Amino acid sequence: MAEEIVNVNEFEEIARRVLPKAFYDFIAGGAEDKHTLKENVEAFRRMTIRPRVLVDVSRINMSTTILGYNVSSPLMLAPTGMHQLAHPEGEVATARAAAASKVIMVLSYMSTCTVEEVASCCDAIRFYQIYIYKRRDIATLLVQRAESCGYKAIVLTVDTPRLGRREADMKNKMTLPQLRNFEGLLSMKVASDKEANVKAFTDETFDASLNWKDISWLRSITKLPILVKGILTAEDAIKALEASIDGIIVSNHGARQLDYSPATISVLEEIVHAVKGAVPVFMDGGVRRGTDIFKALALGAQAVLIGRPVIYGLAARGEGGVRTVIEMLKNELELTMALSGCPAVKDITRHHVTTERDRL
Ligand code: FNR
Repeated sequence: MAEEIVNVNEFEEIARRVLPKAFYDFIAGGAEDKHTLKENVEAFRRMTIRPRVLVDVSRINMSTTILGYNVSSPLMLAPTGMHQLAHPEGEVATARAAAASKVIMVLSYMSTCTVEEVASCCDAIRFYQIYIYKRRDIATLLVQRAESCGYKAIVLTVDTPRLGRREADMKNKMTLPQLRNFEGLLSMKVASDKEANVKAFTDETFDASLNWKDISWLRSITKLPILVKGILTAEDAIKALEASIDGIIVSNHGARQLDYSPATISVLEEIVHAVKGAVPVFMDGGVRRGTDIFKALALGAQAVLIGRPVIYGLAARGEGGVRTVIEMLKNELELTMALSGCPAVKDITRHHVTTERDRL
């Protein structure tokens, strides 16, 4: 009989047991001392919730809209690479779970299934995440393919001019596996003949000269809305607005890039204030509980994205595992809303939480 799992954190232990060590370490790992990795989770724990009582919470409505699309709840699946490391069905299984739970999936540029396979397997609402390689024609081709098979937005990840130092991967000599339809390899074949490790591949292939001026180039190759993922300061949020982007994802890449960058929940409010409602602000990093989602919404996020728990669910139980992860987080958020006196997403306000700064 399958082990009883009661929260999403428990999927991590199962994933650790079922995955080869190098794969688990790659997924779980963070940059250098993993300070930010711990902080992403801990900073949520230092916030408290201010519940309101005697509000009619007999019906809770978690549904919301993201870029105009109706979704069951304010959570999305973050773009994470190489799902076939976790499960043979890879991103197709993840997309099916997103469709079943009516949440948006952001497909990674490092996907191990093609954009078309993921598009045709189910009716999930999909966004497409991209990196920009020195070979711009590769991004152009993939963005056009994604657009023509119905992806609804482009998510440009801007925190990876080079790959962060992930020491477990160095010890494990983690190399890019030979996976079916791994589109990222297309470009590696172009850029490098050697069997690259993940870091060598990234450092050699990614365009470290990418800057704000290039947003207009990206605009010129797609009609889709563009979200920028990896903003951690008010200054860059304002630059993003000046570049006419359509949304901001506050993210430190799950603490895999710059160690000692701030926990995302601790800078969310600064960015929300800078943006002044001009575009939607989303966040990811360390979201493991419905209460975390509630806290992020209270600080002004329109939705959160979930990274590692989704891959752990996939590793543990395939599509059903991802679905369980999503449903657990939704159920926890629903309960949190009921116990805090918030029948609908719009009822969650800044007054419902206390941050560390509030206590100073
Ligand atoms: C990522 N992340 C990521 N981000 C991105 O923009 N493109 C990518 O290809 C990947 N790949 C990737 C692989 C793995 C194994 C992980 C764990 C993460 C970062 C991801 O989108 C997200 O920002 C974080 O995972 C969110 O933090 P949590 O939820 O994992 O704590």
